[in-house]
Amino acid sequence: MSVPKDIKERYEKLKSEVEEHNYRYYVLASPVISDQEYDKLFKELVELEKKYPELKSSDSPTQRVGGIVLEGFQKVNHSVLMLSLDNTYNEEEILEFHKRVLKNLKKENVEYLCELKIDGVSVALRYKDGVLSQAITRGDGTVGEDITENVKTIPAIPLRLRKNVSIEVRGEIYMPKKEFVRINSEREEKGLPIFANPRNSTAGTLKLLNSSEVAKRKLNCFMYYVINPQNYNLKTQEEALNFLKEIGFRVNPNYKKAESIEEVVEFWESWNSKRKELEYEVDGIVVKVNNFEFQRLLGETVRSPRWAIAFKFKADQKETKLENIKFQVGSTGIITPVAEFVPIQLEGTIVRRASLHNFDYIKERDIRAGDYVIVKKAGGIIPQVIGPVKEKRTGEEKVVTPPKSCPVCGGKVGKIRESEVAIRCLNPSCPEKLLRSLENFVSRNAMNIQGIGPKILKRMVESKLLKDVSDLYYLNEEKIRSLGEGIGDKTVENILNQIEQSKSRELDRLINGLGVPNIGTKTAKDLANHFKTLDNLMKANFDELIEIEGIGEDIANSIIKFFSQEEVKKIIKKLKEAGVKTGQKEIKEKEGPLKGLIICQTGVLSRMTRQEFAEYVESLGAVFNENLTKRTNLLVVGENPGSKVEKAQKYGTVIMSEEEFFEKYEKN
Ligand code: IVH
Repeated sequence: MSVPKDIKERYEKLKSEVEEHNYRYYVLASPVISDQEYDKLFKELVELEKKYPELKSSDSPTQRVGGIVLEGFQKVNHSVLMLSLDNTYNEEEILEFHKRVLKNLKKENVEYLCELKIDGVSVALRYKDGVLSQAITRGDGTVGEDITENVKTIPAIPLRLRKNVSIEVRGEIYMPKKEFVRINSEREEKGLPIFANPRNSTAGTLKLLNSSEVAKRKLNCFMYYVINPQNYNLKTQEEALNFLKEIGFRVNPNYKKAESIEEVVEFWESWNSKRKELEYEVDGIVVKVNNFEFQRLLGETVRSPRWAIAFKFKADQKETKLENIKFQVGSTGIITPVAEFVPIQLEGTIVRRASLHNFDYIKERDIRAGDYVIVKKAGGIIPQVIGPVKEKRTGEEKVVTPPKSCPVCGGKVGKIRESEVAIRCLNPSCPEKLLRSLENFVSRNAMNIQGIGPKILKRMVESKLLKDVSDLYYLNEEKIRSLGEGIGDKTVENILNQIEQSKSRELDRLINGLGVPNIGTKTAKDLANHFKTLDNLMKANFDELIEIEGIGEDIANSIIKFFSQEEVKKIIKKLKEAGVKTGQKEIKEKEGPLKGLIICQTGVLSRMTRQEFAEYVESLGAVFNENLTKRTNLLVVGENPGSKVEKAQKYGTVIMSEEEFFEKYEKN
């Protein structure tokens, strides 16, 4: 089928409109339309590509959601060696650099351009006639790896430039501090090794083989280098930065021209204190001779250019005495070693403890109780023990080994999956685990039962009012009053009210609250959306689970194992009996000609969008599911269907065309 001319035109227009809004949002940070309006345009683009796959081009903004899974990364030769920079840490060394530059140029003075040194991963981007053709890692400087598919998911990297130039540029991809913290806490929750700093997590993300996973992590970038600037008539680094901006790249705004080396030092000093306020990590400034002709005259050594130098900030890290390593038991039983040290001031706050994450972390760094250790804030936020000061050892320090039993209840400990670094308390009725699981259950992300804080929960556990999370729903006035001191009428009423209200929370909150190991907020939402009821989720088998995007084999196994436990089944039964809502059962039980059916759809329908279709079938009593699984009863097929048809044939699912379906189920 050839694509009609007006559709082609609409497609090109949409593509550039979406990219333009993307540019305004991510590069200029000044959007002109609302998120909803943007989503609408984006959706139209997706629908057009679905209907006319031949339209789809490599510079389409739809590429940004990822979806390509690679087996590995291809090696690519760099066009120009990707050099690194010499480092200095103090004023004397920067003065020496300045003197060397003047001597080599035989000049009295020279102009510098000072930029921030972004602590990320460098990347080379190639554009052919304005379209992104290849993104390459630094590698060893001569040969890098092709990470194009992953880089396409970064919204600040233009897929098409604002001028049709063929060009190679370089810059830094980084992970914002906030995202780094989010990812690490998710990893800790899942028992995975954590990233030491935003640079490592950026590097780790760029080397993921599934680009949809990359798209989920909020990477960003700044570009700062043009290869062969003479081709674009650029004479200075300052002009190059302006040119980069002009053609659509995100350029760090915090650069400054310095007429003297004193101004360079001033710039360095001012950013040394201001850097904390930035949303990304910088580890120094880069000082570049501004004039390209002078750069060329200065040339480079095998390692680094003679025209630039990195003037690093002193890392804000301090030495302190690690007094004790405590073991903390989390809600899923994970035993986390925590360092308690003599309090120190770091980046504006007093720090007295830091998670040591897991026992591999301690072993790799040989951290011992009683050691002097170096502490810093990872990503400028999370206190982290970098390692011991071994010279200061007295011989009194104690090697810390994983506990043989739970430090709180004495129960058995072990790993629930071989791939995990975490060690867990395996006793289902460990009081500490119970306390943590209750804290998780009432927390804001889960059942959001305000008014029951950690202190009251602890008293309730100690006085055996709560033996599992479901007991919350069997509390009454008498039981709460039995806690004694400090429990007034108001408190009792408030607690009971809050608990009552929480009975009708959404399913994802309940899933979160139950504390399934390895499941974060996002996965809980995906599971709730997919299965609709807790019963469905509990019945789900391995094949069904791994079909859901973002759920791998480990998580699927973990879910199955969790729900197969007798204690868990008992808790869920008790929750139900107490009237806690466990999903959108009412939809399934709704009367209608499609009552009890699970329906899935593929391809483009002529009479309504997918969302409208979902609402339509649900109004007739069915459950609509995005994914096709063995439990799906009916697949409705529109134009240009996807792989679901084949799957449905394999499972023996009933398949109907759009016409057949509406003939049968048209509402009158
Ligand atoms: S210029 C030929 N400018 O720092 C040298 N590099 O330690 C080109 N970096 O490999 C580098 N911010 O990954 C330059 N504003 C900036 C930078 C920057 C971060 C990184 C880059 C480089 C490393 C050198």
